[in-house]
Amino acid sequence: MNLQNRMASDVATLQWVGGTNGYLQMIDQTLLPMEFREIECHDVETVWEAIKKLRVRGAPAIGIAAAYGVVIALQTGTGSERPDFDQRLTEAATYLAESRPTAVNLFWALDRLQNLAASLPTLSNAEMHARLLDEARRIEQEDLEMCHKIGEVGAELLSKGDGVLTHCNAGGLATSGGGTALAVFFEAARQGKEIHVYADETRPLLQGARLTTWELMRRSIPVTLITDSMAGWVMQEQKIQAVVTGADRIAANGDSANKIGTYSVALLASLHDIPFYIAAPSSTFDLSLTSGSQIPIEERLPEEITHGFGTQTAPVGVDVYNPAFDVTPAKYISGIITERGLIQPVTTEEVARVLSIDQD
Ligand code: MRU
Repeated sequence: MNLQNRMASDVATLQWVGGTNGYLQMIDQTLLPMEFREIECHDVETVWEAIKKLRVRGAPAIGIAAAYGVVIALQTGTGSERPDFDQRLTEAATYLAESRPTAVNLFWALDRLQNLAASLPTLSNAEMHARLLDEARRIEQEDLEMCHKIGEVGAELLSKGDGVLTHCNAGGLATSGGGTALAVFFEAARQGKEIHVYADETRPLLQGARLTTWELMRRSIPVTLITDSMAGWVMQEQKIQAVVTGADRIAANGDSANKIGTYSVALLASLHDIPFYIAAPSSTFDLSLTSGSQIPIEERLPEEITHGFGTQTAPVGVDVYNPAFDVTPAKYISGIITERGLIQPVTTEEVARVLSIDQD
């Protein structure tokens, strides 16, 4: 499957338009589901702002957006000397890396472009610029393929008629393909397994309510929206046979950072003897970290909680704590679904073994 014939029913969350002097088009996810609007990024500041404000969000998607952001940043001044070009590349990567701290895909994509430039020091600026665009496109294409494989690996874990719970949005909007957790559901449905998805609304920014339900309904997958606090009760009612979520960064031992609330869902699943799976591409692993305690957790503005979507719901001046992610320890994760296969049990050894499986 290539980017040109991406499924019509899929959402093209990001799209590069034109050649090296082109621009990045993306769906403004902050407006969904009430309004479908695409925005154009013609400068690196607009890309940075889009990542920071979650117009583009989800670990793989922000990595791809950042890669194209570098290409945009280098559109001016390609006539200067190569060291100047490299210097501007470093500045653009450093700037984009400051947009959000938790999803490792962002840093992984930026490192990939910088390493490529470092390996080709004799190319002219124009040639190097073209190679960087090719690399950004390759990152996008690879992500599409990884999503597809994750769907195939994960669908094996579901049975006909299963109720499955997910948290946040790990769908097509968050990747260049069909998503990670949602790719598993799409593939299971395609195989006729007749699953029913329960989507946590995912406070405070409601990615589950706004985005996951939107994607599933577009694909005609049965979905029921619940508030985050209902997850335990629907498990108790035996409506859930498996939980599948995405991840933003996975440490070498399998500890996984994902949207705030994921840890609570994993604990609830464990107490109810329900398998809890993470679905993520290899680009979401950070093997430089031995455990999840080293993962930086983004803290966002108090207004996301006190004035959600513009409506004040708490007293002015109240003290607020707003971590955007939490870390689920590996011991609560039944398996990690990757494009290279299923990591099970989730141990340092098994993470290393599965990730080293050659894909070619
Ligand atoms: O703050 P967000 O909306 O970027 O958080 C996204 C998530 O937590 C997703 O579950 C994760 O990035 C995986 S997306 C395939």
